[in-house]
Parts: sequence; C-alpha cells; structure tokens
Amino acid sequence: RGAPRWPSGTPLPVALTGWPRFFQSYAVEVDVKDASNATCLYAEWMMRFLIKYETNSSDYKNTTLHLSSSVTHNGSVCGNDTQAALLAVQFGEGHSWSINFTKTNETYQGDFITFTYNTNDTAVFPDAKRKGPITIVVKDIMHPVQLNNVFVCHNTDFVEAENVTQIFWNVTVQAFVQNGTISKKESRCHADTPTSAPTVPPTVANVTTASTTTLSPAPTTAPKPVENPDTGNYSLKSGNKTCFLATVGLQLNVSRDKPLLININPKTTSADGTCGNTTATLKLNDGNSTLISFTFVVKNASASVQKFYLKEVNVTLLNRLNVISNADNNNFSKWDAYLGSSYMCRKEQTLEINEDFQVHTFNLWIQPFLVKANKFSTAQECSLDDDSILIPIVVGAALAGLIAIIVVAYIIGRRKSYAGYQTL
Ligand SMILES: *[C@@H]1O[C@H](CO)[C@@H](O)[C@H](O)[C@H]1NC(C)=O
Ligand SMILES: *[C@@H]1O[C@H](CO)[C@@H](O)[C@H](O)[C@H]1NC(C)=O
Ligand SMILES: *[C@@H]1O[C@H](CO)[C@@H](O)[C@H](O)[C@H]1NC(C)=O
Ligand SMILES: *[C@@H]1O[C@H](CO)[C@@H](O)[C@H](O)[C@H]1NC(C)=O
Ligand SMILES: *[C@@H]1O[C@H](CO)[C@@H](O)[C@H](O)[C@H]1NC(C)=O
Ligand SMILES: *[C@@H]1O[C@H](CO)[C@@H](O)[C@H](O)[C@H]1NC(C)=O
Ligand SMILES: *[C@@H]1O[C@H](CO)[C@@H](O)[C@H](O)[C@H]1NC(C)=O
Ligand SMILES: *[C@@H]1O[C@H](CO)[C@@H](O)[C@H](O)[C@H]1NC(C)=O
Ligand SMILES: *[C@@H]1O[C@H](CO)[C@@H](O)[C@H](O)[C@H]1NC(C)=O
Ligand SMILES: *[C@@H]1O[C@H](CO)[C@@H](O)[C@H](O)[C@H]1NC(C)=O
Ligand SMILES: *[C@@H]1O[C@H](CO)[C@@H](O)[C@H](O)[C@H]1NC(C)=O
Repeated sequence: RGAPRWPSGTPLPVALTGWPRFFQSYAVEVDVKDASNATCLYAEWMMRFLIKYETNSSDYKNTTLHLSSSVTHNGSVCGNDTQAALLAVQFGEGHSWSINFTKTNETYQGDFITFTYNTNDTAVFPDAKRKGPITIVVKDIMHPVQLNNVFVCHNTDFVEAENVTQIFWNVTVQAFVQNGTISKKESRCHADTPTSAPTVPPTVANVTTASTTTLSPAPTTAPKPVENPDTGNYSLKSGNKTCFLATVGLQLNVSRDKPLLININPKTTSADGTCGNTTATLKLNDGNSTLISFTFVVKNASASVQKFYLKEVNVTLLNRLNVISNADNNNFSKWDAYLGSSYMCRKEQTLEINEDFQVHTFNLWIQPFLVKANKFSTAQECSLDDDSILIPIVVGAALAGLIAIIVVAYIIGRRKSYAGYQTL
C-alpha cells in the first residue's frame, strides 16, 4: 500500500445527514482511502461540545458548539504498523477535531483527541475576551478494539477536559480496515451491551457507497434479563504471602440515563490493592472500563474483641472516551466479622453507593485481614444465609465437629442417666 490519500474525482467522503431538529446536530461520516482506493479508516459519528469561555466582562459563559453543515477532512491518514492513523475534521469558523489510532498485532485504539475551537467565531462566542484558536489535547482511553472489528457505540460518551465537554454518540469507527471492507464483526461499548455482545450487523456494510449511506436504526432488541455474574477468586499478596482473599460475583447497577447492569467478568479482572493491620483495600479492574474497590477497616482497635467491616466502596466507570463516572461511599458498616475469621454471604447483597450506583454481590466469601496459609479462616455468615442449604465446607466441617461433640455428649449423658436409673 502506498501513501494514503483521498481519491480524486469522487464525491466528498464526508457525508452529512440532517439530524434531529432539536439539536441541529449532524452525523459526520469519513471514509479514508489508501492509494489503491480501498477504505483504510472509516468513521461515522455525532458530536457536540460544551465550552466554558471568559467574556469581555470577565465572567464565564457556557456555549454549545455543534458541527456545521460544512465539514472537511483534511489531514486524515490511513496509518500502518509504524504510523498512527489519524481521523481529522474541520468545521465552522476555524474549528477542528482529530483523533489518532495506534495498533498492536491484535488491537487498535484511540490515543489522543485534539480539539481546536476558535473564539473568533462570533456566532458561538459573541463576547469572548480572548479571540483566537484554543487547542486542547485529551488522552483517549478507549478500550482496545480487536483488529478487523468495527467499534459501535450508540450510547452517549462525555470527555471532560479544560473547560470543554466533548459529547459523542452514535459512533461507528474502524481503523486499520483490512482489504477495504468494513468488518461485519462489531465491538460494542459497555454502555450499549451490558451483558453480551450482540451480533447486529454494523450500520454500514458497504463503504464504497458510504458517502450516500443513510443511518440504519439502532438495534431495538428488548433488554434481556441479566444472568448472575460469574464468581471470581481474587487475592492480594504481601511479599509472597497471601494477605487478602476474596471470592465474589459482582454486578453493577448503574442508573443514569437508563438502568444498566454490568456483570464483572472474573476472567478478565485483575486484583490489586493493599493489605494492612487496620485497613485493607481490594481494587478490581475488569479490564473493560470498570474499577471497583472495597476498603475494610478494623473496628475500634482498642476493643478487646476486634472486628473488621466493609467501610468504603468506590466504583469508577471509564467509558469509551475517557468518561469517568465515579461513585464513592465511605460510610458503610457492613460485612462485619471477628478479626481472624472470614465473612461469607452466598446470597445476593446490595451495596448502595449512591442513588445512581449499586453493587450486587453473589457468593461472597472474603477475608481482608490475617489470612493464614493461603486459606480462608472460619467463616461468619450473614443472616441472609441462615436458611441456605449450601453450607460451605469450612462451616460444614465445624458443624460436623460440633454435631459429633453433641452426639458424644448425648450418648455419654444417656449412659450416665441410664446408669443412674439402674442404680435406683
Ligand atoms: C507507514 O506509512 C508511512 C507514511 O504513510 C510510510 O512512510 C511508511 O513506510 C509505512 N510503513 C510501513 C511499514 O508500511
Ligand atoms: C475510487 O473508487 C471510486 C468509487 O468506487 C471511483 O469512483 C473512483 O474513480 C476511484 N478512484 C481511483 C483513483 O481509482
Ligand atoms: C463585549 O462584547 C460584546 C459583543 O462584541 C459587546 O457588545 C459589548 O459591548 C462588549 N462589552 C464590553 C464591556 O466590552
Ligand atoms: C478555563 O476556566 C478557568 C476558570 O474556570 C480559567 O481560569 C481558564 O483560563 C480557562 N481556560 C481556557 C483555555 O479558557
Ligand atoms: C484480506 O485478504 C486476504 C487475501 O485475499 C485474506 O487472506 C484475508 O483473510 C483478508 N482479510 C480479511 C479481514 O478479510
Ligand atoms: C467488555 O464489555 C463488553 C460489553 O459489555 C463485552 O461485550 C466484552 O466482551 C467485554 N470485554 C471483555 C474483555 O470483558
Ligand atoms: C442514533 O442513531 C439511531 C439510528 O441509527 C437513532 O435512532 C438514534 O436516535 C440515534 N441516537 C441519538 C442519541 O441521536
Ligand atoms: C475459586 O476457588 C474455589 C475454591 O476456593 C474453587 O473451587 C473454584 O474452582 C475457584 N474458581 C476459579 C474460577 O478459579
Ligand atoms: C437498579 O437500580 C435502580 C435504581 O436504584 C433500581 O430501581 C433497580 O431496581 C435496580 N435493579 C436491580 C436489578 O437491582
Ligand atoms: C472503643 O472501645 C473502647 C473499649 O471497648 C470504648 O471505651 C470506646 O468508647 C470505643 N471507641 C469507639 C470510638 O467506639
Ligand atoms: C475512587 O477510585 C478512583 C479510581 O481508582 C480514584 O481516582 C478516586 O480517587 C477514588 N475515590 C476515592 C474517594 O477514593
């Protein structure tokens, strides 16, 4: 493949589709072709910007910048193993936006977004104090997408940085397109597909006619009832000694625009954190835009019988483009057990972090302190489990021991009383 370029003599590769009247936003479509006239980078998306700027009376105002109907795409680059791909658009009175993509052997991902807004645009910034272009660069933390997969995200993403909120929605993008054909394999963003990857064909299949393609409607499959999450085993080490043990299935309930249940996949989740004598934190990163941390503390260190409990839960969602929604509650007083034992609750439990975030736990067994020999100590169970048939092995063993003692005691008692009757 030679140097990428826009084919000459073809219609403008940027197609603008009129979009809902109320927003006056336009869908942008860019189809970058290489020297052999094959598509190498394709994107269709919608975006707008909320910008705070200083006025000539030295206060701050918020304004919204929409894409205008005149969008150009100069400087877009196909990219290859050594050079990043670049998707660049220019619009309105001197505004521009670009994102670069880099690849590995298996994946590609957005790296940086560069946005320039021009406060000389008096329609948008009528009373700006400083006139002229302002450029911001934002690290894009888009989750890597498999090569030869098209990334699709209908949900809205926000990227906030330096007085600018960039808002994206209805995004379809594929960088490093192979053989000039947009893939039929979709990678959906977290927000679109809480539990399973759908196999909906991409909105655009034939890129050679991309400039005239109209958007097909978003998939309207009814939300499926969500299955319980898989249970994961997590541990922390201090030196080469295990100091924190956790077995748990985790599900997030996020209710922002609409309720969303996210099951944490243990297979892709890594554990990190800190052990301590009085505080211990388990941080889980699901490798897919979700971070959850649990902080346990030891209750009143001066009490003679010490207990630990869950004090803080912190959930961070990283959306496709840097969007961080964070919820933290450090006021919990749950899951308490004696120091030196473990806490167990097999039934579903809900941790309410705030009105928008809940964490559901399943098959919980956790020991944040004093782990011995890589094993859970005796479990204290939550009251919810009292009628549970599935008694865990440790408790089972303890109970078996107890029963044996009772039986022995009973037999001895009976013998004694029997003997007693005999002497009568
Ligand atoms: C990558 O693209 C750049 C610029 O288009 C080109 O100079 C370079 O030779 C290409 N590298 C490979 C490995 O194709
Ligand atoms: C590239 O393809 C388009 C449409 O498929 C065609 O109209 C155009 O002539 C081609 N350009 C070159 C340089 O081959
Ligand atoms: C601020 O700019 C607006 C628009 O250009 C102008 O009408 C107004 O007089 C200016 N105010 C000051 C205090 O300069
Ligand atoms: C962003 O806003 C802050 C005040 O909130 C201001 O000090 C700063 O100059 C602004 N930056 C730009 C680039 O407008
Ligand atoms: C691209 O074409 C080559 C050769 O025709 C083929 O081996 C390869 O599988 C194709 N790749 C994709 C993603 O279609
Ligand atoms: C990331 O989340 C999406 C949507 O929930 C899912 O389809 C995908 O399989 C997840 N990827 C990993 C590596 O867990
Ligand atoms: C995204 O596009 C679909 C059609 O593809 C449309 O039905 C939906 O309303 C769009 N979403 C937004 C937020 O504009
Ligand atoms: C987790 O640990 C339990 C025993 O503690 C084991 O039975 C189970 O198979 C483990 N699960 C995974 C996914 O490793
Ligand atoms: C998710 O949270 C919302 C709001 O708190 C609640 O109404 C809903 O019942 C929860 N869903 C589940 C499955 O727990
Ligand atoms: C801690 O425990 C000690 C002794 O049991 C008690 O006197 C003290 O009030 C407790 N402190 C707090 C903060 O609960
Ligand atoms: C919650 O976790 C995030 C990500 O690890 C971190 O940036 C943030 O500071 C934490 N918040 C609190 C209150 O600990």
